[in-house]
Amino acid sequence: MPGDGIGPEITEQAVNVLKAVVEGSDLELSFTDGLIGGAAFDAEGQPFPEITRQQANEADAVLLGAVGSPQYDELDRPLRPERGLLAIRKELGLFANLRPAMLYSALADASSLKPEVVSGLDILIVRELTGGVYFGQPRGIREVDGQREGFNTMHYNEGEIERIGRVAFEAAQKRGKRLCSVDKANVLETSELWREVMNRLAAEYPDVELSHMYVDNAAMQLVRAPKQFDVIVTENLFGDILSDQASMLSGSIGMLPSASLNEKGQGLYEPSHGSAPDIAGQGVANPMATILSAAMLLRYSFGRGDLAERIENACVAVLDQGLRTPDIMQAGMRQVSTAEIGEAVVNALGN
Ligand code: NAI
Ligand code: MG
Repeated sequence: MPGDGIGPEITEQAVNVLKAVVEGSDLELSFTDGLIGGAAFDAEGQPFPEITRQQANEADAVLLGAVGSPQYDELDRPLRPERGLLAIRKELGLFANLRPAMLYSALADASSLKPEVVSGLDILIVRELTGGVYFGQPRGIREVDGQREGFNTMHYNEGEIERIGRVAFEAAQKRGKRLCSVDKANVLETSELWREVMNRLAAEYPDVELSHMYVDNAAMQLVRAPKQFDVIVTENLFGDILSDQASMLSGSIGMLPSASLNEKGQGLYEPSHGSAPDIAGQGVANPMATILSAAMLLRYSFGRGDLAERIENACVAVLDQGLRTPDIMQAGMRQVSTAEIGEAVVNALGN
C-alpha cells in the first residue's frame, strides 16, 4: 500500500528488494497493490475503503509507504488520509509496535550524541500499541466544582500485558537475549501488574535476561548510555515517547523502519517517517527505512530472519559504498536518487 507523497517512490524500491531477495530462495511471495490514505480517498472516496480492508485481512503482511498530504487538509477528519492508518491498525488489532533504533557506522557523525556513546547502537523498542491511557475509558472533559477538568484512564489487563511481553521476550531471544521492561511501578498500579506479569513470563524464557527500569530513569539512560539496552518493552504512552527519543540517536528519520504485529502474526510494516510532501515526486527520498521495514516483514511475518539479514547487510554495504540520498549526504560521498539506492541494495544482496 504505497499511500501518498513519497510513499509510491519508496515502496517501489522496497518491493523490488523483496522480490530480489526471495528469488532463488524457497519462499514464494505474491504481491497485491492496495489503496490507503489520500490515494484511496481519490479513488474510492474513503481513506480506508472496504476493498482495502479485505486485502489487509487476507494478507500475511502489509508493506505501507506513508499517508497524508496538505491537499487533504480541508477534508472532514474521518476522511483525512491519517484516518486510513488508524483504521488499518485497528482493523488488524496491531497491538505490538517494534521500532529498532540503530546507528550505522557509516552514519556515525549524523547522531546528536558523541560517536563513542552511540557507535554500534542497536536497540529495539517494543511498544504496546492498542491499550493504556490512549484508549482507556472513561475519558473526557467534565465540569467539577465550577471548573472544567480533563480526565483519562489507564488500564491494562493481564492478557494485554502477557501478549506484548511474549512478543518482547521472543524478539530478545532472536537478538542479544536481554530485555528491559520499563514501567513506573513505584507509582502506578498498571505498572505493578505489568512487572508481575513480566516476571512470571521470564520463567518461560530462561535464556532471556529480564531487568526492570522506571521510565524516568530509562529516558535518562537512553541518552547517557544507550548501548546498555538490547530490547526494551513498555506500555503505549511510555513507548511513544521513548521510541521517538531513541530514534533520534540514529540520526536520520529516513533510516528507521517499524513493524506492528497482531496475535496471528500478521504485520504492518512501514517507515517511521511520514509522506514528506515537501520532497515528493523528486526522486530524492531515502528508501532505506522502507527497505528495512521490508526486512522486518520477512523476519516477523514469515520467520525468515536469514533473508531479513541479507537485506540489512545489503543496506550497510550500500552506505559503505558511499551512496547517499540528500537527507544523509556527507562530504566526500556520492549523492544518488531514490531508485539508485534501491538498485544498489538489490545489487548488494549478492544473489
Ligand atoms: P515527515 O516525516 O513526512 O517529514 C518530516 C521531514 O523529514 C520532512 O522535511 C521530510 O522531507 C523529511 N523526510 C521524511 N522522510 C524522508 C525520507 N524517507 N527521505 C528524506 N527525507 C525525509 O513528517 P511531516 O512533515 O510532519 O508530515 C508530512 C505528512 O505525513 C503529514 O500529512 C503527516 O500527517 C503525514 N505523516 C504520516 C505518517 C505515516 O504515514 N505513518 C507519519 C507521520 C506523518
Ligand atoms: Mg509518536
